[in-house]
Parts: sequence; structure tokens; C-alpha cells
Amino acid sequence: MSTEGVDKGRRRFLTAATTVVGAVGAGYAVAPFVMSMWPSARAQAAGAPVEADVSKLEAGQKMTVEWRGKPVWIIRRSEQNLQDLPGLDGQLADPGSEMPSQQPEYAANPLRSREEKPEYAVLVGICTHLGCSPTFRPDIGAADLGGSEWKGGFFCPCHGSKFDLAGRVYKGVPAPTNLVVPPYMFLSENVILVGDDGGAA
Ligand code: FES
Repeated sequence: MSTEGVDKGRRRFLTAATTVVGAVGAGYAVAPFVMSMWPSARAQAAGAPVEADVSKLEAGQKMTVEWRGKPVWIIRRSEQNLQDLPGLDGQLADPGSEMPSQQPEYAANPLRSREEKPEYAVLVGICTHLGCSPTFRPDIGAADLGGSEWKGGFFCPCHGSKFDLAGRVYKGVPAPTNLVVPPYMFLSENVILVGDDGGAA
């Protein structure tokens, strides 16, 4: 489920590549096709937007898509999660998402989400300390992460940074900033476009 869109994209690319190899063996009449393939290959490498179908994502779950070679997490937060997040502000380094480099303007709010669907968080899954991949720890009250203080979030195993379910970094950990929110928009009720927001940012 997690990389559905990406996998489809790869399959299409592999099919095209195989076709090209076969046709090149048969002669050079294929040249116009090769030329027309390059723009899309270039667009992929440059980071074309990726569609994510969230119809099967349940409250409390996370899925991952790949955009510009990076993992992008989509987390569907529960009602409980949304209620818990404001209570964490005092423990966080940038609770209001005031550092502009870390999110588009429409996500510069405590939930770090688009207003129309606050239950979804979209985050680049790379620790802002030295780039490790934090683990998803939605288990409220996890004994190893502060017990009853822990309301779910992410833990980076490399040097112990902690982030909440909005990707907001805790105070006193090595990571200096909140996780990055990439540009995104909803194409329909259940489809998120990651990497493009129609210029809203
Ligand atoms: S890379 Fe995540 S805490 Fe250092």
C-alpha cells in the first residue's frame, strides 16, 4: 500500500525501457520515440508530483510515498490525536511552526496541515538533525518515550530526537527544527498530490 503510486510509475518506466532496448536492437527507426521519452524521465528525476490514494488509510495509520527520492509520510490522525496535540506545546521547540523553511504557509499552524483536512499530516520522513529515518511511534503512553506524556509521534533512533504527530520537534533533542512539510493539495476526497499545491504556497 505504502508506495503504490511509485511502484506503478516504476513499472511504466521499466516497460518503456524494455521496449526501447528491444527496438534499438531492431534498428534506429525508434529514435523519435526515444527523444519523446526523455522529457518525462527528466521530470521524474526533477521531482514530478506524486499522487497518493488515502482511501484505505485508517485513523492512526501512516503510509509512505516517494517524492524526489525522499520518503514522504502521510499520517491520518485520530480525533484523540488532534485533541492531544495542543497540549504538547510547552514541550516543543517551535509549536506554532514559525520557522518558514519547514512548511508552506498553509501548514504554518500547530497541526501543520491544510485547513480543509486537518486529520492528514504530510511530512518528509527525514530527521532534521543528520538525516536518519525516524520510526513511527503512535503508541500513546509508550514507556520508553515518556510514559503518559507521550501522545504518539516519531522517534529518531540515531541520536534520540522526538517529534509529535504533526512533525513538531521536542525541546532538548539534537534535531533543531520541525520535520519538513512538502507542498501538497487534495485532488479529491481521497487523493493527495504530494509535491504540488497549485501555487498556494
Ligand atoms: S539524525 Fe535523528 S537524532 Fe540525529
